[in-house]
Amino acid sequence: MSTDDRIRRLESLRAENSAAHERAIDRQHERGKHTARERIDMLVDKGSFQEIDTLVRHQATGFGIEEHRPLGDAVITGWGIVDGRKIFVFAEDFTVFGGSLGQVVADKITKVMDLAFEVGAPLIGLKDSGGARIQEGVVSLDGYGRIFERNVRASGVIPQISVIMGPCAGGAVYSPALTDFVYQVEETSHLFITGPDVIKTVTGEDVSFEELGGAHSHASVSGVTHFVAADDRAAMEEIRYILSFLPANNLEAAPYFTPDDKADRMDEELTSIIPDNSNQPYDMHHLIELVVDDAEFYEVHKHYAQNIVVGLARLDGHAVGIVGNQPAALAGTLDINASVKAARFVRFCDSFNIPLITFVDVPGFLPGVDQEHGGIIRHGAKLLYAYAEATVPKITVITRKAYGGAYVVMNSRSLRADLVYAWPSAEIAVMGAPGAVSIIHRRELAGAGDGAKDRLIDEYETTFNNPYLAAESGLVDEVILPRETRPRLIRALEMLRTKRESPPAKKHGNIPL
Ligand code: HXC
Repeated sequence: MSTDDRIRRLESLRAENSAAHERAIDRQHERGKHTARERIDMLVDKGSFQEIDTLVRHQATGFGIEEHRPLGDAVITGWGIVDGRKIFVFAEDFTVFGGSLGQVVADKITKVMDLAFEVGAPLIGLKDSGGARIQEGVVSLDGYGRIFERNVRASGVIPQISVIMGPCAGGAVYSPALTDFVYQVEETSHLFITGPDVIKTVTGEDVSFEELGGAHSHASVSGVTHFVAADDRAAMEEIRYILSFLPANNLEAAPYFTPDDKADRMDEELTSIIPDNSNQPYDMHHLIELVVDDAEFYEVHKHYAQNIVVGLARLDGHAVGIVGNQPAALAGTLDINASVKAARFVRFCDSFNIPLITFVDVPGFLPGVDQEHGGIIRHGAKLLYAYAEATVPKITVITRKAYGGAYVVMNSRSLRADLVYAWPSAEIAVMGAPGAVSIIHRRELAGAGDGAKDRLIDEYETTFNNPYLAAESGLVDEVILPRETRPRLIRALEMLRTKRESPPAKKHGNIPL
């Protein structure tokens, strides 16, 4: 065969690959979805995608599958550039066998996972698949297992992000569940272990696809999904955006962006953000926006456990992870969901060298039989564990309430916070005044009128509802004016940039799961 013939052969294979299945592509569009290639084009910088394994064909036989051996099979894999930085991507291709996963699909996915792991670059998985390829049986299940094992090995080494853009059902859901962030596209994506039909048969419950596994259910009820995107394009834009906050791997720092905002900017609005009546709520998002660069706060898990706010922002151009109790939801108490949400976020930031800023306004843990029997002890311990274990720079700002065990959990000095600042409005005590007075003055108050109790409450509030006892004992490093918060945090982060802390040698800790 001449060289020309050989080149023509490759060209015709390439043409075969890109000409695939017009009818299936139309059906994909009719479903309101883009194809895998279109999605990758939306994700990476123009012309940067380097596809590999385009010539792979499945080797399976039986059920007539051997008659149909499309090039590249049901996933598109490779690497590309996002804002000048390398990422790896696999995009399940629903137009080929419904994106189902057989041996060669798993081989292609695990190949890019290994490359991403070895070179230390983020991995993005675009999910749109009918699940395990039924014709390939246990080999397909093994394929998923190989992917899960790599998800776990890469956890804490490279950022892993999953985007659910179509069906993702059965055991297949565990790959996204193991990754750092899950995005879901509204209406076109569904995520569940067992679908509505099986549920109806087994439990008799009637539930729609959307209610069971749609973006809003998982973003607000189960907490499986961190971000909801309106459509494929919006999802790809959000992925590009979150990548701007993340380092390529655990040995690097997040990218620096020269800020427009001044490092010494003081915001007077912070002075009046805390209401005079300490039982009145205020919005923690707003407080965060007043402090960070250009009021830009990318909230994670926005619709889930809204009594705690977590997300990414920048201070003087450097990425930070922010955690703040939200007095405007459940009075900012910590409950099971808030503890788990924040613990996972703290551990993510710690894995990837992103310093943590914690704004504290927490009246305590949420009381209730549901909470106790649901395991608030075990789940609250996760947040405590995550903060205590974190070795990134950790700075706390107590804006108002910091009571009891919740005070300790929210990155207190005791958990090795590097710096603890408090505003003059801080209230730091074992418990709130009415509860404390009724315990320590029980005998005195028996038979006494309301006046006596009010006087004792006043006395307690004067003694404890301030940051000065904590500052006297060094548990608060400095009481600062609210407007000074941004410059103080920026100076502190600058000082902590060279922080080095080595945890004791161990295989791994035993976080209370
Ligand atoms: C092989 C599959 C497939 C699968 C879909 N297809 N799922 N082929 N294995 N798992 C094929 C269809 O036969 C069809 O081929 C094409 O993909 C498009 O599918 P449609 O059914 O026409 O599309 P739609 O109506 O949009 O429905 C999509 C769907 C449905 C909801 C995903 O296809 C479906 O229910 N599929 C089966 C899902 C499933 O039960 N998977 C196993 C889950 S268990 P043609 O040739 O007609 O175009 C699992 C275990 C993982 O995944 C365990 C890991 C540990």
